[in-house]
Amino acid sequence: MGIRILGTGSYLPENIVTNEDYTKFVDTSDEWIVKRTGIHRRRITETPTFVMAEAAARRALEDAGVSAEELDLIICTTVSNDYMTPSLACVVQGRIGAKNAIAYDINAACAAFVYALDMANMYLKNGYRKILIVSAESLSKITDYTDRSTCVLFGDAAGACVVEASDRPFASCLGCDGTGAHSLFARQHRNEIPLVELQELAEVDQFGPARDGAIYMDGREVYKFAVGAMSKALTEACEKFGTAPAELDLIVPHQANIRIIQTAAKELGLPLERFFVNIGEYGNTSSACIPVGLDQLNRAGKLTSGAKVGLVGFGAGLVYGGCVFEVE
Ligand code: ACO
Repeated sequence: MGIRILGTGSYLPENIVTNEDYTKFVDTSDEWIVKRTGIHRRRITETPTFVMAEAAARRALEDAGVSAEELDLIICTTVSNDYMTPSLACVVQGRIGAKNAIAYDINAACAAFVYALDMANMYLKNGYRKILIVSAESLSKITDYTDRSTCVLFGDAAGACVVEASDRPFASCLGCDGTGAHSLFARQHRNEIPLVELQELAEVDQFGPARDGAIYMDGREVYKFAVGAMSKALTEACEKFGTAPAELDLIVPHQANIRIIQTAAKELGLPLERFFVNIGEYGNTSSACIPVGLDQLNRAGKLTSGAKVGLVGFGAGLVYGGCVFEVE
């Protein structure tokens, strides 16, 4: 038993930011950014995360021909929610009127959409009928615009899909290596507490100095992890599915760096053309990358019946996740 994607949706903010725009406030160049990352443009907005999430959700429901009231569950994925609480999923549930759905968020960084699909698969096996997954990220809200090595990478976007149970198989491979947590993190803003010693507060600084509320990344460490994680996750998901990476018709990878995708393709012995790539236009939008890619493929008529699709993501945690399913 597996997953059938009934519909997809996405929201991409209108405001386009070019590489040239960054040269006005950090020491960088279009040439460096394109050569080292493959990014030309990204979308940046002040629109709240929940507004982007709602728009993507409504488009996915419309594409699926499913009403909000038919949903039993909404899973949202985000590292950049507008609120620490309530969850993004509860806000979306209220705004779209999904009154019969339970709702919660998961945080598995850029691998979270794959984690959410895996979780949805388990709920479907247990009798849930229609599940909405929404991945929405306003990374611009947690970007340190004084750090040239990270600020040029990130963009804002939301992607969504509606799923139900299917007879066709679904297989996944999820993983985590928390010993690498220090290489990619964003610390919460903290209020001062008059009741405890500063020393106690300092203990949460275990990962070292970084701006509160902004992403810190050791790019080289994450790069090394990412390349290995991509091929491991896809290969193991394929094994569980009973196929081989070479048999996949289409792979939608997390869009962190074109060089990571190229290297993973080489390691897997697959042509780059098999991988969906839109990093040049939108940069890294964390957990939104994969569902936005799925929506673009769906609307371009490229999710054809019988196609074997692989999804693969990795990110802060450090986490990774790959899955394989067949389009109906
Ligand atoms: N413009 C110009 N120069 C720069 C820039 C920039 N924007 N950023 C860094 N540099 C410089 C560095 O300071 C360094 O200079 P130095 O040699 O004088 O010290 C030089 O370029 C090379 O730096 P590296 O960090 O080695 O560059 P690299 O080729 O590794 O590219 C990058 C950096 C793009 C961050 C890469 O390491 C990467 O993609 N890492 C993985 C990112 C990723 O996958 N993140 C995943 C998840 S993100 C999330 O979870 C939200």
